Amino acid sequence: MQIAVLAGDGIGQEIMVEALRVLEKLDLPDLQLKPADVGGTAYKNHGHPLPPATLDLVMASDAVLFGAVGDPDCDDLERHLRPEQAVLGLRKEMQTFANLRPAKAFSGLENLSALKPEVAGAIDLLILRELTGDVYFGEKGQRQSAAGLREGYDIMAYDEQEISRIAHIAFKAAQGRRKKLCSVDKANVLQTSVLWRTVVNEVAADYPDVELSHMYVDNAAMQLVRNPGQFDVMLTGNIFGDILSDQASMCVGSIGLLASASLGTGTHGLYEPIHGSAPDIAGQGIANPLAMILSAAMMLRHSFAMETEAAQIEQAVAAVLEKGLLGHDLGGNASTREIGDAVVAQLAG
Ligand code: IPM
Ligand code: MG
Repeated sequence: MQIAVLAGDGIGQEIMVEALRVLEKLDLPDLQLKPADVGGTAYKNHGHPLPPATLDLVMASDAVLFGAVGDPDCDDLERHLRPEQAVLGLRKEMQTFANLRPAKAFSGLENLSALKPEVAGAIDLLILRELTGDVYFGEKGQRQSAAGLREGYDIMAYDEQEISRIAHIAFKAAQGRRKKLCSVDKANVLQTSVLWRTVVNEVAADYPDVELSHMYVDNAAMQLVRNPGQFDVMLTGNIFGDILSDQASMCVGSIGLLASASLGTGTHGLYEPIHGSAPDIAGQGIANPLAMILSAAMMLRHSFAMETEAAQIEQAVAAVLEKGLLGHDLGGNASTREIGDAVVAQLAG
């Protein structure tokens, strides 16, 4: 079990420490944790946000634990040197086109959601976000418009293969859950979405047991706060999934709680919280490490088929929250370390 440990920038460093303590507590066989620099930290130390040595380690490892990247000191760098390019580069190099972002209500947090408690309590959904296409990876640049004005552009494009492979994963995920799949697009305006919808409908023929629906993204954003309990699996493209998953996190209670898994066709995966590096609170020891800890659980499940251990971590996190040990993001005052300690103690039984 060789794991590339890329803590990255800001609170990434602090939350990673706690996730590693949790993994070490489990006494996993042959656990090898190999740290490397990424993001702004890597730029400062090696001149590039994703240095070759880091990429080599990633490709030689069984899985990647990733903290967060983003550093205000790097805001003025050229785009290819910005910290965010590290995570985009990793997703592309690892071909992790499927991003799983589960959002589930935690018992005890109903009153901390941005939604009414009875609405929030019903959340149990999985956002399946396409991760290696869309406006993120299409041709982009700045040019002069016909009228001589400065113009920025990012091409949105998906080919049928990119759509069908993520659709298959979404249907299979739905089969393992409540068998409902909602595909989110903007087919009333975008040609990309028209093809998306067509291909998803074609793939649906292989999964007659799954109930498929389609929803425009603006309506999906509205439904996510009106009645999130209606959703089981939400399948969507890169940019819509980015936005809807941040929204889903606040429906649960805090962005500090949502984990993610990025997978390709095999078990080589990248596991990261959906939140960023939070430079405003970095170094204070007050970041919530739970999204990072839950990402480690997802790694055990998806890269190492260790369902028992993954569930142990998830149950420990749920128990800690239910006891009311809340971080600053949830209006409490537990420190990063205290939350990590509580999860470790819970695992010890
Ligand atoms: C996320 C983040 C990234 C994204 C950024 C850091 C490039 O917001 O993982 O959701 O947009 O995918
Ligand atoms: Mg995001």
